[in-house]
Amino acid sequence: MTYSIADAEQELKVKHDALNLRWYPRYHLAARAGWINDPNGLVWFDGWYHAFYQHHPYSTQWGPMHWGHARSQDLVHWEHLPVAIAPEGPEDKDGCFSGSAVVDGDTLALIYTGHKFHGDADNEENLYQVQCLATSRDGIHFERQGIVVDTPPGVHHFRDPKVWREGESWYMIVGARAGETGQVRLYRSADLRQWQEEGVLDEAEAGMGFMWECPDFFTLGDKRVLMFSPQGMAAHGFKNRNLFQSGYLLGDWQPGQQFVRAGEFIELDHGHDFYAPQSFLTPDGRRIVIGWLDMWESPLPEQQDGWAGMLSLPRELSLSADNRVEMRPAKEVESLRQGWYPWPVSTLNNQQIGVAENAEAMEVVLNWKGAESTAEQYGLSLGDGLRIYVDAQMQRLVLERHYPQHGLCGTRSVPLTLDHDLHLRVFIDSSSVELFVNDGEACLSSRIYPDAGQRDLRLFAWSGSASLSDGGAWQLE
Ligand code: FRU
Repeated sequence: MTYSIADAEQELKVKHDALNLRWYPRYHLAARAGWINDPNGLVWFDGWYHAFYQHHPYSTQWGPMHWGHARSQDLVHWEHLPVAIAPEGPEDKDGCFSGSAVVDGDTLALIYTGHKFHGDADNEENLYQVQCLATSRDGIHFERQGIVVDTPPGVHHFRDPKVWREGESWYMIVGARAGETGQVRLYRSADLRQWQEEGVLDEAEAGMGFMWECPDFFTLGDKRVLMFSPQGMAAHGFKNRNLFQSGYLLGDWQPGQQFVRAGEFIELDHGHDFYAPQSFLTPDGRRIVIGWLDMWESPLPEQQDGWAGMLSLPRELSLSADNRVEMRPAKEVESLRQGWYPWPVSTLNNQQIGVAENAEAMEVVLNWKGAESTAEQYGLSLGDGLRIYVDAQMQRLVLERHYPQHGLCGTRSVPLTLDHDLHLRVFIDSSSVELFVNDGEACLSSRIYPDAGQRDLRLFAWSGSASLSDGGAWQLE
């Protein structure tokens, strides 16, 4: 099959009208129809934020990747634009894989991975991944400029270029697999077209994965953050529970020098569904990340509805005093707030109380008084499918989803100091929840699939009492 932007647009128009919208996001970005995975090319250009994404317009399954495209003035209201690139060329005939965008004077440049098999696609030996360039003046129509970095000898998995400007040069990092070792390779250029190899920026030690996907590299505070999505890290206790991880290594780096790590790999989000995050800078200098709010090989019940996958809220990163990356909803998210509904509850004593009905686009704010709460379990539930609660015996904050009809049951959790106050912001959308803990300390994001009539919110405290200093919800636009 040959692909083109015009065919993709035709297909999307027809498919969009046939969507079942029961789980379609009310305030997150998803494709008009079909499949979406990684966010790509996040950038501010010519007065707009642009978000591109891995997209298969022809079905709700992953397939030959196109770059879907949307733009926004405020990171929360998105306008869909035509597909930006399709796998049309010999260099990307089997897919336009993930990549990034930079502004080069008056030009928007997309740098992405051309994915292609030379021969039988069932044999990985035939796989070649190359880095390609496409440019645009209007930010909507792109001209393909072909390959700018070819596959290194002996390597097959070599993808997801992230480009940035530093000093007088452009830099690019690319995720790679060398045997069983995940790597990030570094390149340098004066013009985005001719690239020199600068060696391996960092690579996995035992247990750190066989492939590092979607690398990103940026300054936060006085540190460098190497953010990436490793494949092949084994689960250990409460860590690395998802099929693949996404997280970061902190360190120090200057152009021309080695990256020197300071600390271990840390997961960025502790929920079931967060992968391939990419960062960008706002015009006022904030470092924002958006991730894919799904996980490879996890059921996506919305596939029956004509679409699959969504992106996370934009989140601002900062570095804490003890050198941890903190993540908070970008302040623009507050512009979605409509009415505030305070909940007249201060103490729950071995009981549950209904606090809202039909929570579909809501930000819940809760302040639990840890030191005054004795209950073994206390928290918030949405229908019969989602609970977000303190487990005092485990000393953890737990996100539990229970959708056995869709094969999606289980918990994710983070450690807690029980006698401290616990501040939660919980963003509920039609089929997602993003939980921000203690103003940047942790985040848990998961997909949820409430049936009709399963969207009532309750507070509960079992085996003891729990006290709130504040609780309520914002209705979101
Ligand atoms: C990460 C990823 C990337 C690749 C893209 C393909 O989720 O596997 O490494 O470029 O998705 O769609």
